[in-house]
Amino acid sequence: MLATTVLALAFAAAGLAQTVPAGYRKVYMTSNVDTKFIVVPKTPVKNGTTTVVQTNTNKPGDTWFIAGTAGKTKIYLSNTTLCMDAGVKTAWKDMANIYVNECSDTAVGQNWVDMGDGRIQVDGSSPAECIDLQYMRATANNPVGLYACAGLGNTGAKDKGINWPLVNVTAF
Ligand SMILES: *[C@@H]1O[C@H](CO)[C@@H](O)[C@H](O)[C@H]1NC(C)=O
Ligand SMILES: *[C@@H]1O[C@H](CO)[C@@H](O)[C@H](O)[C@H]1NC(C)=O
Ligand SMILES: *[C@@H]1O[C@H](CO)[C@@H](O)[C@H](O)[C@H]1NC(C)=O
Repeated sequence: MLATTVLALAFAAAGLAQTVPAGYRKVYMTSNVDTKFIVVPKTPVKNGTTTVVQTNTNKPGDTWFIAGTAGKTKIYLSNTTLCMDAGVKTAWKDMANIYVNECSDTAVGQNWVDMGDGRIQVDGSSPAECIDLQYMRATANNPVGLYACAGLGNTGAKDKGINWPLVNVTAF
């Protein structure tokens, strides 16, 4: 009985992304508009919550797991079973919300591409949609959504609103 309980707990814990998955790294997603601000889910943190920016107060729960090198990646909210999710394909438009939803291998909106230049694209979006600081406002609770990866005036990664310097976290 005890052994069974211990085993069950072990499996339950395995479902949580508490440790960084192989090939991934733990990061803050800072905004290039003002790197004091980072992407976090709204509170309470649960399935379906949208994402916003807040000032970085160095909390473990504000970190994400993302692939260690540029290219395809999922974006796990550390210590949770939640993943960054752009929703269904028809929702991949400028100013759309980005959510944290239960991680799923079949959710198309949970597949991203780290473009390696600060931009993070919804994998398979056309025209390409990227993670965006709405209206480029680095203020507490300002929504994080989607905007064309082409950027304002076709400036690409030079558009600070769609540029998210990833900062490795090793403190915890
Ligand atoms: C989480 O939210 C998504 C999007 O609203 C929904 O499709 C999904 O069924 C929810 N999952 C759970 C486990 O509640
Ligand atoms: C994970 O959760 C544990 C227990 O609540 C906490 O001590 C730890 O700091 C958290 N780590 C991260 C990366 O969120
Ligand atoms: C962050 O981590 C990645 C993957 O481990 C590594 O390639 C990169 O050099 C690190 N960046 C910095 C600034 O330490």
